Amino acid sequence: MPVIALQGIRGGVGTTSITAGLAWALHRLGERVLAIDFSPDNQLCLHFNTPLSLTAGWARAELDERPWHQDALRYADGLDFLPFGKLSVAECSRWLARHQQAPGRWPQYLTQLRDSGDYNWLLLDLPAAGPACIEQWRAAADAQLCVLTADANNHIRLHQQSLPPGARLLLNQFSADSRLQQDLQQNWRQHLDTLLPLSIHRDEAMAEALAVKQPVGEYSAVSLAADELNILAGWCLAHVTGSRP
Ligand SMILES: Nc1ncnc2c1ncn2[C@@H]1O[C@H](COP(=O)(O)OP(=O)(O)OP(=O)(O)O)[C@@H](O)[C@H]1O
Ligand SMILES: [Mg+2]
Repeated sequence: MPVIALQGIRGGVGTTSITAGLAWALHRLGERVLAIDFSPDNQLCLHFNTPLSLTAGWARAELDERPWHQDALRYADGLDFLPFGKLSVAECSRWLARHQQAPGRWPQYLTQLRDSGDYNWLLLDLPAAGPACIEQWRAAADAQLCVLTADANNHIRLHQQSLPPGARLLLNQFSADSRLQQDLQQNWRQHLDTLLPLSIHRDEAMAEALAVKQPVGEYSAVSLAADELNILAGWCLAHVTGSRP
């Protein structure tokens, strides 16, 4: 069961949209996928047609002392998602304090999922910034995709922030109309061997998909972004293996 962690180089670059779209693309290839939200913003579930009022999720379950995966929801046969859950600011601090006290908990969760045999792909939607336990969640993954957009802010970040070892860069919201984006893409292709050889273009279908609460491949199977996410799913199948016991 390969585990892929997706994290933005900064917030808002499209990590959650890509997680939902990749989950859909892998599912369409016949894979059994679980996508898990690690962000207190709790937005991943909104790509899978849930109401904003939904409170269920794994952090909610931990806080309420229920089994952590009890709140996983089925979107389609072979495609499940597990929200973070709705927590108030005070509850979130309480949850975090408890969660950080038991750092071995997350590897145990992964073992449970592997042993269940229910899934053959696990996608982790990590917030761009957040608590120290992000490290622990990320370390449990077999592959890490760092999502970024081609702008000067991210170009600077590439010099300021060190990528986690083994992480690959995935360019999203690429627009070939922009001279700056073209130049940055070319520069990164020349100088960064961590940049994936595929990118996701800026595509209205991707923006609209969230507005109608669907992964982009379901909303518009013929869109460019859906096509590129299918290519990403193919890349994952070819290059990511579950190396952990
Ligand atoms: N390739 C794309 N083309 C057009 N719009 C996109 C694309 N990718 C993402 N978006 C839009 O950008 C916005 C931010 O996307 P998303 O919520 O996935 O980003 P994020 O990195 O997860 O943000 P956050 O840091 O808040 O979790 C959304 O409105 C989404 O529809
Ligand atoms: Mg997000």
